[in-house]
Amino acid sequence: MTMLETLMKKRNNEELSQAELETMIKDITADQIPDYQISAFLMATYFTGMTLPELTHLTLAMMHSGDVIDFSDVEGVKVDKHSTGGVGDKVSLPLAPMLAALGIKVPMISGRGLGHTGGTLDKLEAIPGYQVEISEQDFKQQIKTVGTAIIGATGNIAPADKKIYALRDVTATVDSIPLIAASIMSKKLATGNDALVLDVKTGAGAFMQEQAQAEALAQIMVKIGREAGMQMQAVISDMNQPLGNKIGNTLEIEETLDMLKGDAPADLLEVTLALAVPMVMMAHQADDEATAREMLLGTLADGSALAKFGEMITAQGGNVSVLNDYSLMPHAQYQVEVPAPATGYVARLDANAIGIASMRLGGGRTKKDDLLDYGVGITLHKKLGDPVSVGESLMTIATEKKQIPDIIDYVLEHVEIGPEATKPELIHAVIK
Ligand code: URA
Repeated sequence: MTMLETLMKKRNNEELSQAELETMIKDITADQIPDYQISAFLMATYFTGMTLPELTHLTLAMMHSGDVIDFSDVEGVKVDKHSTGGVGDKVSLPLAPMLAALGIKVPMISGRGLGHTGGTLDKLEAIPGYQVEISEQDFKQQIKTVGTAIIGATGNIAPADKKIYALRDVTATVDSIPLIAASIMSKKLATGNDALVLDVKTGAGAFMQEQAQAEALAQIMVKIGREAGMQMQAVISDMNQPLGNKIGNTLEIEETLDMLKGDAPADLLEVTLALAVPMVMMAHQADDEATAREMLLGTLADGSALAKFGEMITAQGGNVSVLNDYSLMPHAQYQVEVPAPATGYVARLDANAIGIASMRLGGGRTKKDDLLDYGVGITLHKKLGDPVSVGESLMTIATEKKQIPDIIDYVLEHVEIGPEATKPELIHAVIK
């Protein structure tokens, strides 16, 4: 079947076969289909959606468009976690060493930040010397010896997704549930893990602002993963306000280290546990949630998770002295306070706006090749529902510029102080 015939079928809302989807992805990967035909396919899919068999075939074809990591020579269940992205979302950083401290294998291929959400790799690069680009062989070796590694994509993972994503970006077809699901799951399946827990964010700072959309995306990704033989679970978590208190690369490593030393913001700890508990159970290390939770908290109390994080830093060439000396990481020159405009309770602390403010300070990218200021960022002193008095500091901004009135005004436009103390629910749903 030619691409034109595939397009006619898709336009007419007929189900595409495995062979048709495989041929299309093979030809896209080989640069044999012009962008206008791929774009037409994307727009047709945006409007007609996909059946589960179509979506599974599309995802598997995209997964096989490049390298598939083979972890069969690494003993034990390999577990992974994926978040759809949020502001202050540093969960992978404490979660991986907590699980590895329990003997669980956690190979993680992470991304860089683009736009208002930070990237795990950028945060790790605030640690002097930390290498995110390591070979597949070293990656596997580190999983065997340390139990975890957090790295950038090795080699050629799901090249079809790279091409398709670049066109989605310029054809207004990014926010299509089947296309997002195939994009994320093709890359996750190609990393060769046995089990995956998804953190699908919802709220002002999330890709999926409505909970119903977030749940639909999570449901479909869980189904695709299971069809492909992976153990799957998903958590729908809140992203109306940033997660934890610190936003920015160095600042988020500091908050991670504090958490691994037993001093975690309550929301960061709860979301980390909501994701890590099912991972412990999928790795067959506990039979029930309460036991898994106790085991995970034990790794914070006895210092074993902190020690594991140190082992991972050392294995990837980083300076492990940062564990006890945060001054070894880049820090911004100035600290500017943002005073509360009124007395009451924090009623809005827009995650999207805080992420954009951090990006404008230089902590995130607006273009792919932007260089980062690792030391800039925001430390929140108040979160949703907290009481505050007029003039009290809501947050401290770490900046390279002495005067930042535009950023302060921007942040304050997205903060509201109200008469009632309302805390948001952190975990909106769990999809088992
Ligand atoms: N992340 C991805 O990897 N792909 C998408 O389509 C959206 C988010």
